[in-house]
Amino acid sequence: MDTMTPAQLGATWNPGSWRDCPILQVPAYPDAAKLAAMEARLARFPPLVFAGEARRLKAQLAQAASGGAFVLQGGDCAESFGDFTANVIRDTFRVLLQMAVVLTFGGAMPVVKIGRMAGQFAKPRSSDTETIDGVSLPSYRGDIVNGPEFSADARLPDPTRMEFGYFQSAGTLNLLRAFASGGYADLHEVHRWNLDFVERSPLVERYRDLAARIDETLNFMGACGLTSISAPQIRETDFYTSHESLLLPYEQALTRVDSTSGDHYACSAHFLWIGDRTRQRDGAHVEFMRGIKNPIGMKVGPSMQVDDLLRLVDVLDPQNEPGRLTLIARMGADKVGDKLPKLLRAVKKAGRTPVWLCDPMHGNTIATAQKIKTRRFDAIVSELRAFFDISTAEGSVPGGAHVEMTGRDVTECVGGARGLSEADLGTRYETFCDPRLNAEQSLELAFLMAEALQARRTKRLSV
Ligand code: PEP
Ligand code: CO
Repeated sequence: MDTMTPAQLGATWNPGSWRDCPILQVPAYPDAAKLAAMEARLARFPPLVFAGEARRLKAQLAQAASGGAFVLQGGDCAESFGDFTANVIRDTFRVLLQMAVVLTFGGAMPVVKIGRMAGQFAKPRSSDTETIDGVSLPSYRGDIVNGPEFSADARLPDPTRMEFGYFQSAGTLNLLRAFASGGYADLHEVHRWNLDFVERSPLVERYRDLAARIDETLNFMGACGLTSISAPQIRETDFYTSHESLLLPYEQALTRVDSTSGDHYACSAHFLWIGDRTRQRDGAHVEFMRGIKNPIGMKVGPSMQVDDLLRLVDVLDPQNEPGRLTLIARMGADKVGDKLPKLLRAVKKAGRTPVWLCDPMHGNTIATAQKIKTRRFDAIVSELRAFFDISTAEGSVPGGAHVEMTGRDVTECVGGARGLSEADLGTRYETFCDPRLNAEQSLELAFLMAEALQARRTKRLSV
């Protein structure tokens, strides 16, 4: 017989009700009392975000679900304690803004910007242990759990890391808020960075036209009196944070009751998502997520079945609330054509309108002959294009993209305008987890998506 989820049984939710459910991907903390003490400590700390912000994001996501906005979610696969500097935060933020400007223009609609930042620390692993030269140790599960170095000491899960994770998130968020509202995000500046990128790109001829049209539009707006001084929309931007809701003791400790509504909000970030490995409908992660009122996401990989998806949508978004649920498809370029259409169709037929995003990264990870994890830029573009085409053919809205990227000049994904090859991967391979697009590859992807959005728009206008 089918297992019933607590929601189906009508069980009441509370921030700790996940503890009665089967759970995957749990770190084996050696000292339960130390873990409990850390949870109690975090539960007294101030929230990192406030419920009103999460509600505002939900409203913007509702707009994206109906085709009135485009979502850009991006950042590191895993943030790192060792790489906690202003430059890292600034560079990623800057490239996300640059991408957003191009997409806003291409789609002629607002872009909802969500960083995989300020809390993206916990990682699911395919195996509990890692073996090197006959030595087996617990797998690295992200800096909020244990250390990446291959030593017994580093790999022992340590609850005190949660406190550092909290403070690093607070520090990152503080800088992001300052950048977003303090003048750094000024549209004219962002556009100037894009012009720079275009002039240096081997594909300058291809991108120059779009950049020139944005330039002209900004000049026109300026002539009409819409300047950084007169219009806050030009000077400032909304920027939200997100991460995978994997480490539930941490998430529960940062869950708070909102005094205005009486509802529970996860206050570690504006938006949390359930990973592809922890989306069992009777499992702990789904149980925790169903009760928080934030906008939430769920990864939808190639093993997802139609029935399961519909039941998960029911559990996670029982009221079909606009903006509540974002489904992040990550099928792989070779599988998307086979797997995605029936899921889109079933969700639509059930009268559901989640935001559908495409994560073109996680289904396209490959290993080189030297066993280096990488992704081909072409495969990433190909999955995104297929996602756009299939959504359009099915009458669904392609709501946006979810990417692993960095603002730095790393060499982790192959291809792109510079034609990075496998031989180049050794130059600057810095990721702690999955291979990310570098700054140029990210911008190139944004220009390609903007062209696709623009083509769809022109087609709509002409029919
Ligand atoms: C991730 O987003 O880093 C991740 C692990 O993705 P997924 O759950 O889709 O595999
Ligand atoms: Co990843």
